[in-house]
Amino acid sequence: MGRAFVYVIIGGGVAAGYAAHEFVQAGVSSGELCIISEEPVAPYERPALSKGYLLPEAPARLPSFHCCVGTNEERLAPKWYNENGIELILGNRVKSADVRRKTLLTATGETISYKYLIVATGARALKLEEFGVNTLDAPNVCYLRDVADADRLVDVMQSRSGGQAVVIGGGYIGMECAASLVINNLNVTMVFPEAQCMARLFTPKIAAFYEEFYQSKGVKFVKGTVLTSFDFNSDGKVCAVNLRDGSKLPADMVVIGIGIRPNTSLFEGQLTMEKGGIKVNGKMQSSNSSVYAIGDVAAFPVKIVGETRRLEHVDSARRAARHVVSAIIEPEKTGEFDYLPFFYSRVFTLSWQFYGDNAGEVVHFGDFSGHAFGAYWMNKGHLVGSFLEGGTKEQYEALAQATRLKPKIEDLAELESQGLEYAFSV
Ligand code: FDA
Ligand code: NAD
Repeated sequence: MGRAFVYVIIGGGVAAGYAAHEFVQAGVSSGELCIISEEPVAPYERPALSKGYLLPEAPARLPSFHCCVGTNEERLAPKWYNENGIELILGNRVKSADVRRKTLLTATGETISYKYLIVATGARALKLEEFGVNTLDAPNVCYLRDVADADRLVDVMQSRSGGQAVVIGGGYIGMECAASLVINNLNVTMVFPEAQCMARLFTPKIAAFYEEFYQSKGVKFVKGTVLTSFDFNSDGKVCAVNLRDGSKLPADMVVIGIGIRPNTSLFEGQLTMEKGGIKVNGKMQSSNSSVYAIGDVAAFPVKIVGETRRLEHVDSARRAARHVVSAIIEPEKTGEFDYLPFFYSRVFTLSWQFYGDNAGEVVHFGDFSGHAFGAYWMNKGHLVGSFLEGGTKEQYEALAQATRLKPKIEDLAELESQGLEYAFSV
């Protein structure tokens, strides 16, 4: 025996929180919606974990960053779910799903059936073991995906103040954690295989700016190599990192950010997959018409780039969550999800935003020695992407608007000299 709901969401992260909010706005009745999450806490704004959560003074702690504070909306504390008749099952994992029977089986042995299922299982951090490096579960090696990871990172960081931290990976986690480690008084060395940080997004020129800024804060970079093994001391803690180039870095702690894998395993062999995620259409509907997917786990048609993509960013998860609720509740009135990719980060006193697609030729503009500069990407004669560091709200809005319109670019030199002004002229 089990329970039946009209709507079930698997996962209790960003996408689940925003979908719950949207369901309530749309007038869902008490008892119709159930959320099942492996995490022991109600949905929260995951980006806080690598920023406010790691601050030495007045750090962010739950309940202050439950969804939907990230968009300056209502904060959905656990009692909000209760008051709205939403069944919030926490600390319980869905261990199998049967899309033909429309049932889920939880780790506690309960069968839950649905009419509509929203998969919002996000992703897990890749482990070094998957690259053949054993951490032996050393207590001073940290990953960062959820609150439990963040608590551990905070504990380790505080107990190693003044010591050596090695950050593995030059992506988002690497960059944001390195900044937090510096702020917490650790000496930081970043190690990554590429020739520059943020290789998936930044141009070499943009990367050089951030690397120089980090160096001015004392961060050292070891590029173009990976770690091959750790040295452990007698109490099982890592004390050094061995690199492929033969060098050894002393380490009082290690932070790993080497990418993620979407949590698709419940649906392998049951739903069509693409780009490592669950393939959905413009209504976020999978190859099974009762199953929808949103957030990091979903590969959806990004109209503006004319391609199916999986985006690993919070704005995409929030907007897809709103879209899917409308697509389920009012299918005739809901069009295709028309999304302009938006990524951002904040480190030290810096802050950047990116819109669109980083494909094609690049034109940089602004003052790279100061803190207000940017770039445009042009593909097939049209503006397709834009980046700005240190912008104002109006400047970011102008950039987003211009990128969405994909204007034709006749003269790259002219675009370069106009710089940010161009965005206001479109
Ligand atoms: P999310 O990971 O938020 O939630 C998935 C949920 O599903 C989790 O609660 C998980 O436990 C649960 N789950 C998985 N399998 C389950 C199962 N079988 N049964 C039950 N529950 C299950 N983005 C950005 O644009 N700007 C930023 O600054 C940041 N910063 C940032 C910092 C850190 C530390 C991380 C880890 C990530 C970011 N991101 C970000 C990325 C952003 O947080 C991410 O894109 C969203 O959280 C995606 O939301 P989802 O709901 O898809 O997954
Ligand atoms: P990432 O994909 O941004 O970066 C992974 C990095 O790992 C690469 O840049 C590379 O330098 C490195 N790498 C890959 N394989 C390696 C190996 N074998 N050894 C050493 N280094 C290796 O992933 P991440 O930084 O781990 O971030 C995880 C997720 O969290 C992503 O989905 C990201 O979008 C999200 N996140 C986003 C933000 C943001 O948007 N501001 C902030 C934090 C986290």
